[in-house]
Amino acid sequence: MNRIKIDLERTSGNVSRNIFGGFAEHLYRCIYGGIYEPDSPLSDKNGLRTDVLAALQKLQMPIIRYPGGNFVSSYRWRDGIGPREERPARTDLAWAVTEPNHFGTNEFIHFCRELKAEPYLAVNCGDGDMREACDWVEYCNGTNDTTLVKLRRKHGFEQPHNVKYWGIGNEIDGSWQIGYKTPQEYARAFTEFGKAMKRVDHDIKLVAVGVSNWPGDIVERIQLLLEQAGNIIDYLSLHTYVGNFKNDFADYMTLSELFEERLSVCEGLIRAVSLDNRIRHPIAIAMDEWNVWYKTYPRVEDPSSLTKIPSDGEEVYNLEDALITGIALNSFIRHAHSVKMANLSELVNVFAPILTRPDGLVLQTIFYPFELYSRTCGQTALDVFWQGETFSGGKYTGIRTLDVSATLNEQKKQLILYVVNRSQTESMETTVSLYSGRFSGKVHASVVNGPDIKAENTFEIPDKVGIRESITKAEGQSFRYIFEPHSVTALICDIS
Ligand code: AHR
Repeated sequence: MNRIKIDLERTSGNVSRNIFGGFAEHLYRCIYGGIYEPDSPLSDKNGLRTDVLAALQKLQMPIIRYPGGNFVSSYRWRDGIGPREERPARTDLAWAVTEPNHFGTNEFIHFCRELKAEPYLAVNCGDGDMREACDWVEYCNGTNDTTLVKLRRKHGFEQPHNVKYWGIGNEIDGSWQIGYKTPQEYARAFTEFGKAMKRVDHDIKLVAVGVSNWPGDIVERIQLLLEQAGNIIDYLSLHTYVGNFKNDFADYMTLSELFEERLSVCEGLIRAVSLDNRIRHPIAIAMDEWNVWYKTYPRVEDPSSLTKIPSDGEEVYNLEDALITGIALNSFIRHAHSVKMANLSELVNVFAPILTRPDGLVLQTIFYPFELYSRTCGQTALDVFWQGETFSGGKYTGIRTLDVSATLNEQKKQLILYVVNRSQTESMETTVSLYSGRFSGKVHASVVNGPDIKAENTFEIPDKVGIRESITKAEGQSFRYIFEPHSVTALICDIS
């Protein structure tokens, strides 16, 4: 028998809505043929695919990162503004393709406004310079009568875009990055870029590249960066892509430990360096690229190769991948005190919850847990105790079969419990109880599941995996619930 015990007063941090963010990169069919397809009958007058917009609206992403990714490290933002017919086509050095620049800053801002999402721009700290980065901030946010502000106005945007979140570079710790930098080089570059960008707009929030190349020089990187620039860093960015590389379900399901380890290690480093350097403001973690990515993962045959170019990134997800989505979101909620932003990578087609064709789209398995958590998540994370069945996988033994997180919605007086049952075959009968307070009526259960762990949603059969809803009753201090094998469940419980 499994037990989940919750003390409603044992809170562990405010859940930032920004953990339900997304990421859109100029990469294969994410922008062109995904978000933006002006010749499609499915697109609006601005070239945005309306079916994609409608699907994305359901995910309620509060923030979207753009334009890369690796792409940004050779991107010239000026190429993507002004009359479309005058925009230059360039070779994108990250992915070795031609970038037409038909979609750029203003199109992206418009796209974000359609989704009611905050834009989060990353500047080129690869082959780009500080002046270019500052100019972009000024073009977007400036209000004085400067040449760049007049240019934005000429492009039809009288009011500033007010872009609040700015990342400086991308995966600068990876040898594949155009403009890879050592810990020393990046700490210095970030400090100078950040200082100058803040002089253009003091109110912007800065995101520094932390770690994407695991394991590597994590300690040195974070330490140097925070020592030199801690006073202007608001977020430290981490990237995590995972996959079932060995086709071993049990091993795959232990990835909860990897998320735990990475988040705990970086939290500890931030705390230690902040203490040593008297950094008084909180530096949050932004997991600003995360997802399952392995079926189309680049196979670099030549170990000396510095390229990292995937096929087309069009992963077709199955149910076990959707369980990982639940596991990752549980870890962000459990670390709500430090993880204040996370961006599902990417939005459309390229390892994405949505796959398009010219005539429509399919919602992939991972769409459903993301939509469920985003829609139901409360504002306060709870520190949950749970125990019960365990399993072994990969290098681990004694991993709890259930993976759990919980939040509180104080206004609605609801406890929202998220549970991933990682057993492939067994239902998990569980007692859910409160230390104090009581369940007071309805428990609304939303279950993401499908016929088996390899079930996929395709254009032919688009609904093998989806969400089923039901309502049960719970009164008093505890109730029993049976979690289905290979499922992600949200229990929304009325409490008093
Ligand atoms: O999302 C695809 C790529 O993965 C991004 O460009 C890069 O940041 C990461 O390596």
